[in-house]
Amino acid sequence: MQSGDFKQIDVHLQKNYTVIVGKDITDKLKEFVDLKQTVAVTDSNVYALYGELIKEILTEPDNLFSFKAGEESKNYKTLHSIYDFLIDKRADRYTYLLAFGGGVVGDVGAYAASTYMRGIPLIHIPTSLLAMTDSSIGGKTAINYGGFKNIVGSFYQPELVLCDVRFLNTLNRREFNSALAEVVKYGIIRDKSLFSFMETNKEKIKNRDEDTLIELVLKSIQNKVEIVEEDEKEKGNRALLNFGHTLAHAVESATEYKKYLHGEAVSIGEVFAVNLSFKLGLTQKETLNRIIDILSFFELPVLLKDDIETDFLYKIIEKDKKNRSGRLRFILTKGIGSSIIAEDLNKSQITGAIDEIKEK
Ligand SMILES: NC(=O)c1ccc[n+]([C@@H]2O[C@H](COP(=O)([O-])OP(=O)(O)OC[C@H]3O[C@@H](n4cnc5c(N)ncnc54)[C@H](O)[C@@H]3O)[C@@H](O)[C@H]2O)c1
Ligand SMILES: [Zn+2]
Repeated sequence: MQSGDFKQIDVHLQKNYTVIVGKDITDKLKEFVDLKQTVAVTDSNVYALYGELIKEILTEPDNLFSFKAGEESKNYKTLHSIYDFLIDKRADRYTYLLAFGGGVVGDVGAYAASTYMRGIPLIHIPTSLLAMTDSSIGGKTAINYGGFKNIVGSFYQPELVLCDVRFLNTLNRREFNSALAEVVKYGIIRDKSLFSFMETNKEKIKNRDEDTLIELVLKSIQNKVEIVEEDEKEKGNRALLNFGHTLAHAVESATEYKKYLHGEAVSIGEVFAVNLSFKLGLTQKETLNRIIDILSFFELPVLLKDDIETDFLYKIIEKDKKNRSGRLRFILTKGIGSSIIAEDLNKSQITGAIDEIKEK
């Protein structure tokens, strides 16, 4: 693919819009939408790297607001400063807000766009691999509040999502690999060909070959779009996206969100879920091996350190579930590309599968 070229996916949700994926396409934004006034929200890391580029695509160079990078900024203080910024720039219902950054910028920026004046047009320009393949797609917005992740938010679809894989060159290796755990997830739960694509092109992915990344991002988006189109408000099959996440959330919570990046915890959770599926006779050992191989290749953890008690993890899982449906629900796989929702598993099946993925 040439510099400036792109491919597109059309999304049909409450609103129809387009996702564009390519390289060196950001400065072409004006060709895609008729922008009267644009303002942008970003974080300090993305600002340091791409501030000048962002200013060039804005209607006024100083229509740019940047906040301190990191999950800690995903709160109402940042949200309020975005409102102040929008008021200061006299933003109105015709102003486009560009959420230019990773998932944190996307979530808080989109929440601001969805609530300011009851909603102003939003464009996602995701710059992390996680934001390109996951968080910018589907319309969920959020901030953290009262110690709870994503507890305040809305469903709000953008006018356009523009994924320029050139940004991925500057993403650090851990963040990059961590997002791949979520891409592997799409492969396991519903897309055998995506999984094989990752196996065949693992070196190119690791070396961040741009054309390969464009394909990888497109395939991921296609999966997320299809799931969300089926289930926009998360009542049924969108739950499949939680594959690997039940244990991941417990591990993140047990380690106070300090030890693992989200995708790293997901990687462990995926190995657990496949191991449980294998033990229940739903899939073969080969499935488990292939999944461990690909995750390990991307330097993701596939075993749990022995310093967390299995019972402690189980209690967190149980508590988490009780707060919601009251039933322990796990997403399991019947082989790469196929998944099911399982309920009513017993405690020993779960703790047994956790014990087996512990480092010995
Ligand atoms: N809305 C959804 O559906 C959804 C889905 C999944 C995750 N999320 C949310 O997404 C967030 C995680 O997203 P994330 O992993 O992108 O985190 P992030 O936004 O914190 O970005 C990770 C780090 O990479 C930096 N960064 C971003 N782009 C860069 C680039 N091109 N070059 C160098 N550094 C760059 C950021 O400054 C940050 O330090 C979480 O808050 C999570 O809750 C939302
Ligand atoms: Zn996740």
